[in-house]
Amino acid sequence: MSELFEPIKIGNLELTGRMVKSATVETKCSYDGYITDELIQYYEEIAQGGTPLIITGATSFNAYSRGVPYQISADDDDKIEGLKRLADTVHQYDAKIMVQIYHTARQASLEPVGRTDAQAPSAVFEPTLGVKPRAMSIEEIKEAVVLFADAAERCQKAGMDGVQIHAAHGYLISSFLTPHTNRRTDEYGGSFENRMRFLLEVYHAMRARVGEDFPLILKINGSDDLPLRKGLKTQDLVKVAKRMEQEGIAAVEITAGHYESCTTFERGNWNGYTKRTMTEGPGQSFSWLRRNLMLLCSPIVDYTFNKVAKFSEGFNLNYAQQFTQALSVPVICVGGLSNMNSIQNALDRKDCHMISAARAFVADPYLYKHLKENATGPECDYCNRCFTAAGVQPIACGNEKVNAQRIKMLQVESPGECSSNPSAA
Ligand SMILES: Cc1cc2nc3c(=O)[nH]c(=O)nc-3n(C[C@H](O)[C@H](O)[C@H](O)COP(=O)(O)O)c2cc1C
Repeated sequence: MSELFEPIKIGNLELTGRMVKSATVETKCSYDGYITDELIQYYEEIAQGGTPLIITGATSFNAYSRGVPYQISADDDDKIEGLKRLADTVHQYDAKIMVQIYHTARQASLEPVGRTDAQAPSAVFEPTLGVKPRAMSIEEIKEAVVLFADAAERCQKAGMDGVQIHAAHGYLISSFLTPHTNRRTDEYGGSFENRMRFLLEVYHAMRARVGEDFPLILKINGSDDLPLRKGLKTQDLVKVAKRMEQEGIAAVEITAGHYESCTTFERGNWNGYTKRTMTEGPGQSFSWLRRNLMLLCSPIVDYTFNKVAKFSEGFNLNYAQQFTQALSVPVICVGGLSNMNSIQNALDRKDCHMISAARAFVADPYLYKHLKENATGPECDYCNRCFTAAGVQPIACGNEKVNAQRIKMLQVESPGECSSNPSAA
């Protein structure tokens, strides 16, 4: 039996295996972030598949942190009840669940979330969405730290098994770490220690609220390279992770990329991506001019994405390996890992201790069970249709072939419950 199915601990949290459902924004809450039955059903299926650890989609805590409507929010105590229903449901199946807490910073279209401005470390233009944020004041930074901690405490009160601090993908914490987006000259910018200050303050504020035993884990880029701009190198990011391990982080998940680096965290097939984004996805809220310019340039944009962010199996393993060598806490790798051979090879080579997957769970919520039983389930081909619709439509696989496989699977595995609507699962 593969090591994938052997127990492992994150801090004191015991997991039945080494597979994680990585954060995928669900777009299944109420507009303002209350948990719905639809969202609970979505996670119940993944838990039924025996998935050892589920990480929720990015969860916001105030208007500025919110990236898209219908995402989970932990901005108020009245959200605890819904979060508790979610945790209790997942726990019925011996699965564990952590909430990913983030602040979207400059990576959000403002109109869909009802805002007119965006916060960031510095006023650096975000080219893919056309957002020029404003630099946060010291008071706003301090306020965000407290709100991150409030949200973590609510998750703990709801019975969640831990919290993942999102320090990757160019969102607020990541943009404090990266010199291109952090041009501050005060104690939050400049030196390595100063750029880490915000992450350290968030971590310590959370820790003070949740106590020593509650696992706080980190999602971090393995490479922060931005074309022609000052991103962090893998060795710098390993240094960040090492420091966070010393502070008490219980595990790290390795990814890579930002919106403006051709979304390399979503390496896959980009054919038709730009057109779909403008007509069915977040591009619908762009200005007429921006949308039509993008449509006009779509063959070039798709071509560039296919060149820069081409799929390969386990596309972040080369970074994860360097973190695994440096750290003692479990290193989780996400990115193009859904096939048993590539998973086994990664574990055998000790590139990482745990495997995480996002799109493959959208295609097949029973992925872990199928891997364990050596059975063929609906297989993700990384077409990126789920990603194109993220934050606009409820999360679902948009690939007809994969959905047909899934309906067939439901007919065989649970004949009475078969639904012909792929997004119902
Ligand atoms: C629809 C969708 C939504 C996502 N939402 C999040 C998110 O909320 N937080 C996050 O850290 N990553 C998010 N991601 C990125 C995934 O967690 C993961 O890092 C990426 O998809 C690569 O893993 P994969 O190849 O297994 O899909 C999202 C990806 C997709 C496809």
